[in-house]
Amino acid sequence: MPATQPLMNTYARQPVAFSHGDGAWLYDSEGRRYLDCLAGIAVNTLGHNHPKLVAALREQVARLIHSSNLFEVPLQTELGARLVELSGMTNVFFCNSGLEANEAALKIARKYGHERGIARPEAVVYERAFHGRSIATLSATGNEKVQKGFEPLVEGFVRVPLNDVGALERIAAERPDVVAVFLEAIQGEGGIQPARIEYLQAVRRLCDSKGWLMMVDEVQCGTGRTGKWFAHQWAGVVPDVMPLAKGLASGVPIGAVVARGAAAEVFQPGNHGTTFGGNPLAMRAGLVTIATMQEEGLLENAGRIGQLIMSEIGRELAGTPGFVEVRGQGLMIGVELDRPCGALVRRALDAGLVLNVTADRVIRLLPPLIFRAEHAEQLVGTLVPLVRGFLREDQARAA
Ligand SMILES: Cc1ncc(COP(=O)(O)O)c(C=O)c1O
Repeated sequence: MPATQPLMNTYARQPVAFSHGDGAWLYDSEGRRYLDCLAGIAVNTLGHNHPKLVAALREQVARLIHSSNLFEVPLQTELGARLVELSGMTNVFFCNSGLEANEAALKIARKYGHERGIARPEAVVYERAFHGRSIATLSATGNEKVQKGFEPLVEGFVRVPLNDVGALERIAAERPDVVAVFLEAIQGEGGIQPARIEYLQAVRRLCDSKGWLMMVDEVQCGTGRTGKWFAHQWAGVVPDVMPLAKGLASGVPIGAVVARGAAAEVFQPGNHGTTFGGNPLAMRAGLVTIATMQEEGLLENAGRIGQLIMSEIGRELAGTPGFVEVRGQGLMIGVELDRPCGALVRRALDAGLVLNVTADRVIRLLPPLIFRAEHAEQLVGTLVPLVRGFLREDQARAA
């Protein structure tokens, strides 16, 4: 990296700059077209340049972008009401990003514990989890690469493997200071690892019996991506605290913590706040995102197109040496190989596909929810030969 680079060296970026987008397509500065199978890492829910989003944002920019939380913000109340209605929960706090939403959730858990006389409250967290890169959220994250160099970590986390009810029951028996269970309904960065339905139900039961908060990080898997508004809804449970971000405003920065019951009452004036959170521009983007998802049937679409992609990839790659499995829900899909495959990102770009590899060996597909069958066909038709070719070459090199 040249010393004159003005940006900090935080990302291993691909050498492509996108100049504009249209629906499921991105265009680079040289006019090449790419199918967007990543949606800004689960952000561009409505794809690019959606006419309803563009019109609403134009109008809102001209009217009012920001006014501050010292005053009433009616659009916050309006979006909050929508989230309450869709989640079955009761109260919302708006912020600007996933880690901020998770920080708020962790603060709720701490204060909830203190209110119950627990001086050093603990939260159960998970192996392979990802919750963000602030000091508290990286401490909750289950990935040493994210944590290394930032010690001392924040205390008060107890880590367990996902989908292991016994491990959680042992914690319940042995750790009297636990006040919350904090998990992703589907781990995203961890490699598209779903919490099983029975596991989510067991977490709910245990939280009810112990008085713990069930806190479900829906930052990546929420906002319709899996075919339900929130991924935990597949298990028929309602959490106590739910952080949201990413896709909620189709690309305008936003975060939200939705809560109910005692968790919704924890924050009192002075306990929490933000300058930008809940600004009219982001709220308008959130409202138009939800309304458009309903008008265009995007939940149902995510379920149907996701199923199509998964079954086609599974069928095409079945029996291919090196292919492990394709898994996910709706348009949150992981294709696991038996070896590191980060090199596929560049090859896919060269072939006109924007995708991502996470947890070293999992090709991650998070397309916009407006994806259609023809996009799915193009994705599968391009990706499958790339994966086959990559595995063949890699095996030949290793031989
Ligand atoms: C599940 C989950 N939680 C939290 C975050 C952090 O969100 P942000 O990057 O907006 O801080 C992410 C980001 O990838 C995520 O996937």
